[in-house]
Amino acid sequence: MEKEFDILVIGELNVDLILNGLPSLPEEGKEILAEEMTLTLGSSSAIFASNASTLGNRVAFLGKTGIDMFGDLVFKSLNEKKVDTHFIIRSTSDKTGATIVLNFDEDRAMVTYAGAMETLMAEDIKENQLSKARHMHVSSIFLQPEIKKNIVFIFRMAKDLGLTTSLDIQWDPDEKWDIDVEALLPMVDVFLPNETELRALTGEKEINKAIQVIRPFINTMAIKMGNKGSRGITKDKDITVKPFLNKKVADAIGAGDTFNAGFITQFIKGEPLDECLRFGNLTGAVNTTEAGGTGAFSSLEDFSNRAQRFFGVEVN
Ligand SMILES: Nc1ncnc2c1ncn2[C@@H]1O[C@H](COP(=O)(O)OP(=O)(O)O)[C@@H](O)[C@H]1O
Ligand SMILES: [Mg+2]
Repeated sequence: MEKEFDILVIGELNVDLILNGLPSLPEEGKEILAEEMTLTLGSSSAIFASNASTLGNRVAFLGKTGIDMFGDLVFKSLNEKKVDTHFIIRSTSDKTGATIVLNFDEDRAMVTYAGAMETLMAEDIKENQLSKARHMHVSSIFLQPEIKKNIVFIFRMAKDLGLTTSLDIQWDPDEKWDIDVEALLPMVDVFLPNETELRALTGEKEINKAIQVIRPFINTMAIKMGNKGSRGITKDKDITVKPFLNKKVADAIGAGDTFNAGFITQFIKGEPLDECLRFGNLTGAVNTTEAGGTGAFSSLEDFSNRAQRFFGVEVN
């Protein structure tokens, strides 16, 4: 039977209030003026969903916001990218999360209020929602304690319903990395850490050692390596794919999430590992040609034009 959605994203939602052009970082008891301000959709999961939709997938989001102006902005931004928002819960008791970003020269200071993302529960994820999608992608589990607690259950439910699955755990702010990888990873079809996260998760400083530790439990793992490209690992394959190097990076916000969107776009079409990695590298690289996580993906045409203009790649 034809499914309504290609990808169901389960993850955190928040807005970013970005202040630029500061004379310094603020000091206690003082006030400074910013030259510029942007209020925009934040969150890794939302960047993934937006860009996966722009790449042509039918994407739905399952997350939580408050009933407030920031929540309205989240809905409006996702809807503009044609991400289906019907499964997003609007909580009467929580506020929508927000991150205040203070940019000063190469430095930045951030303050996050987690809000509704912290109270999204495993019980909020219904079988009849999951079964509408071909693939489930989960991100940022350390920002969502209730999801993290039941992460094995959530992946088992998706697998029992016949979905393929992917997971980007992202950074753990507590640096405890307490997930049961032995139980979890066998149900994750594509595990998507970056190098630093994989080393921290396994407690191994050396990347090949880290891979050795995790390999018995994985199906496919795509390791993101910044301007060194990416590396794909299965039980019997180990391939490194060179990046589409961008020497004039606008910023790398969301590069990893956009890599994920490119990789999963090809994975759910049944493309082989090297093609998934190549396209992930391309979407990640295009992401760095414009500021912010979705700036280079205003439309499929915008993405294709940039792929051609910056990297000489024809996307069809
Ligand atoms: N400077 C760059 N030039 C080209 N591609 C890049 C660059 N930075 C990142 N990428 C691409 O984006 C992917 C994800 O970026 P990375 O920084 O590794 O992820 P994360 O944001 O999760 O840390 C990389 O694997 C690479 O393919
Ligand atoms: Mg990341």
